[in-house]
Amino acid sequence: MRRKFQDEPSQPLESREPKAAIPPPPTMHHSNSKRLTPLHGHYLPQLCRPILWYLLIAFLLLTFLHYKQARTSISRTAICLVGGARRFELTGPTILEHVLNVLPEADLFVHSNLDENTFKLALLRSAPRVTEMRIRRPVRFRETEGHMRLLSAGSSPNGIQGLLQYFDLVEGCLNMIAAYETQGNFTYDWILRTRVDGYWTGPLDIKAFKTDSYVVPEGSRYGGLNDRLGIGNRSISAVALSRLSLLPNLALAGFSDLNSESAFHAQLKVFNIPAEELRFPFCILSDRQYKYPPSGDIAPVASIASPGPLSGAKCRPCVPHCKGECIEKLGPEKWLGWTEWRNGSLELCDGSQPWQEGWEEFFDKVADKVTADMRHKVKEMTTEVCWQDMKGLKKNAGRWNGPDPIEICNLGSTSQ
Ligand SMILES: *[C@@H]1O[C@H](CO)[C@@H](O)[C@H](O)[C@H]1NC(C)=O
Ligand SMILES: *[C@@H]1O[C@H](CO)[C@@H](O)[C@H](O)[C@H]1NC(C)=O
Ligand SMILES: *[C@@H]1O[C@H](CO)[C@@H](O)[C@H](O)[C@H]1NC(C)=O
Repeated sequence: MRRKFQDEPSQPLESREPKAAIPPPPTMHHSNSKRLTPLHGHYLPQLCRPILWYLLIAFLLLTFLHYKQARTSISRTAICLVGGARRFELTGPTILEHVLNVLPEADLFVHSNLDENTFKLALLRSAPRVTEMRIRRPVRFRETEGHMRLLSAGSSPNGIQGLLQYFDLVEGCLNMIAAYETQGNFTYDWILRTRVDGYWTGPLDIKAFKTDSYVVPEGSRYGGLNDRLGIGNRSISAVALSRLSLLPNLALAGFSDLNSESAFHAQLKVFNIPAEELRFPFCILSDRQYKYPPSGDIAPVASIASPGPLSGAKCRPCVPHCKGECIEKLGPEKWLGWTEWRNGSLELCDGSQPWQEGWEEFFDKVADKVTADMRHKVKEMTTEVCWQDMKGLKKNAGRWNGPDPIEICNLGSTSQ
């Protein structure tokens, strides 16, 4: 969308040919004529010149205004960043570089639960545009019989409660956006939803904004659709992000035993929204342990050093345990958490243990310098610095819907 405008100014400047009106300078006959020249030969052009300048400036101004208006009316984008900040010192700098700075005019909406890692969100102080921060105290949802029938606790770390919490974070972001739109009497053209725990290794491709489908990452489908990133126009996104309020529709349509991915798939299906899968250069940095080797519904855990794109697979910093032919032998085409492995794009960790000893050094080697520096900065962050940054973020944010920065920083310092 944005690209169109970069080639846009369709009336070329030359077409006005302002210079054509200026006659060639008269030839000088001898040195005495020097002082007189302005009064003689240049008399007419000198009168014309200011007028031409005015015309040129007016033209440029109009072009600029037209460009600006077209740009804002067609490509207003909201970014939803949801989830816990558990490893945000590692993922945050990559989200800044590869997502937020790629769309510097997009409005950022953040929805996260308050915990001892929330202070890490202070990194967003340097985001180009923070529209609203919502940091809520954890709530517990009542799990109804309807939920039990419809959803399956299966592989979700916190069962059905975990699913409901996640759905609510996502939908809450849509509600923030809608409230902001109502207040400003406008609507966004696009909503991009992504996760706080996404570790990006390359820039978000603007081509992923498609007018005729909802775009999600390829792979990690678990019997449905990858729900770790989504891009779509305003009306499609309204459906895709209404993860909690549309559950009754899924039950009515006869679905049951859904995990997060299959519920997401069902949701788009019920509303006849075509999904399109593209590969994206990010993975979900996770502390969870998974049996090794991956198979069936046991998730593969990729090394962040994999060439990728990992398209939202789970990952962690590890010296790869298995790659190339080794992966082929594991029969990746049968994994529910299938992710593209051919051409060496995937390198696996043994995810059955905690992050390996010395992961920090490995991380610093793999990550770019800014990200590695940030890891050190957050590790050594004092409550004072946290407080400064968090206050800065609060000041930058259009709306702040969360506890006082002091509380957030104190909560962080007691855990370290
Ligand atoms: C909102 O915008 C619409 C169309 O752009 C306009 O007709 C309407 O008067 C506006 N409402 C307010 C309250 O500004
Ligand atoms: C969004 O995309 C869908 C599917 O292409 C289309 O039907 C709908 O009109 C679009 N909505 C807007 C607001 O552009
Ligand atoms: C593997 O690489 C080749 C050559 O670059 C490319 O044509 C092919 O699409 C790649 N396959 C996959 C699955 O990425």
